Amino acid sequence: MLSWDEFDKEDTEVVAKSANAGHPTEANMDRLDSAGGAAALEARAVTATDSPAVVRAKTALDNLDIAEGLAELEGASARVAVDEKAMINCRADLNQLVPFKYDWAWQKYLDGCANHWMPQEVNMTADIALWKNPEGLTDDERRIVMRNLGFFSTADSLVANNLVLAVYRLITNPECRQYILRQAFEEAIHTHAYQYCIESLAMDEGEIFNMYHEIPSVAKKATWGLKYTRSISDPKFETGTVETDKELLRNLIAYYCVLEGIFFYCGFTQILSMGRRNKMTGVAEQFQYILRDESMHLNFGIDVINQIKIENPHLWDAEMKEEASQMILQGTQLEIEYARDTMPRGVLGMNAAMMEDYLKFIANRRLSQIGLKEEYPGTTNPFPWMSEIMDLKKEKNFFETRVIEYQTGGALSWD
Ligand SMILES: [Fe+2]
Ligand SMILES: [Fe+2]
Repeated sequence: MLSWDEFDKEDTEVVAKSANAGHPTEANMDRLDSAGGAAALEARAVTATDSPAVVRAKTALDNLDIAEGLAELEGASARVAVDEKAMINCRADLNQLVPFKYDWAWQKYLDGCANHWMPQEVNMTADIALWKNPEGLTDDERRIVMRNLGFFSTADSLVANNLVLAVYRLITNPECRQYILRQAFEEAIHTHAYQYCIESLAMDEGEIFNMYHEIPSVAKKATWGLKYTRSISDPKFETGTVETDKELLRNLIAYYCVLEGIFFYCGFTQILSMGRRNKMTGVAEQFQYILRDESMHLNFGIDVINQIKIENPHLWDAEMKEEASQMILQGTQLEIEYARDTMPRGVLGMNAAMMEDYLKFIANRRLSQIGLKEEYPGTTNPFPWMSEIMDLKKEKNFFETRVIEYQTGGALSWD
């Protein structure tokens, strides 16, 4: 008969063996709880009723080597302590979500889930009527809708691909990865939303989805972003040296601070300004939800960048600071050029010069958010209503055009 003393003895043995932690070999496989092993093996015994296929499946499992399997796990397989967790180059087991080290990352994951929405919830009827009416919008207003759907329909895919194919693997923290998975799904919803707008308005899909090849102000922004994903999306790329760690940092600054933090802002402002004037309210509502998601992506990215700086202060040297500042200034310049291209004349109560001020105001924010000097002193925000929209809760719908509730899963029955 077992006694609690024997359990305690087992625990002591586990602690003693944890010196081997991080190297799951045959030697520490006896940490495995084997109490149910005999019963499990009994279930695998071949019976007379087993078909040849079932027999093959059962016997194939006889060759399953747990030691070998655990050795392939990313990071060590021992129980994880908070102190072992790190944003990059972490050796602790990445499959153990808890204990949390970065509570803010988990909170952002929860907030992202709480803000869930789907493009089909938004009523596009008024937009379709307005778009079809030759008198409905001016040429300048149509240009804004077309250019922005052109830019965003591919930009969110660039962000999603960068996340999934490059960043995810290199961020070695499970709670941040959990948020990145949520963000990746949100990027899919955003691309879906643009597709939904393009389809609803019966636009030429080829023309819209190819603007990032064909329209210089759109192409320049896409090309600038892609430059920073090239090396780190190589499957052979590894962090762990000063140069490769800096390369990852450059990518995070390019995508979170510039693409999501600057390149989206001219378009968001233009489309939301349309919605405020009661034009294209469905498209504007889609953009409103997207903007709320994007401001969370941006804040997550800023937190990740700053955490990497705290944990690896040697990366944030004068050269890297200068480079980061230059990246943000280049991004701002490209967005100013995009503003000029999309607004050759004043439209919707705004013009390219006002947008330039707004973008410089945003750029100052991005610089200071990662601890850099502001480069556009004295700039003020000409569009204070933008910040109000970003903070709106889903329930308080700005345009009040929301038509349906999304289903939180179909009705489950255990019958
Ligand atoms: Fe997005
Ligand atoms: Fe995003």
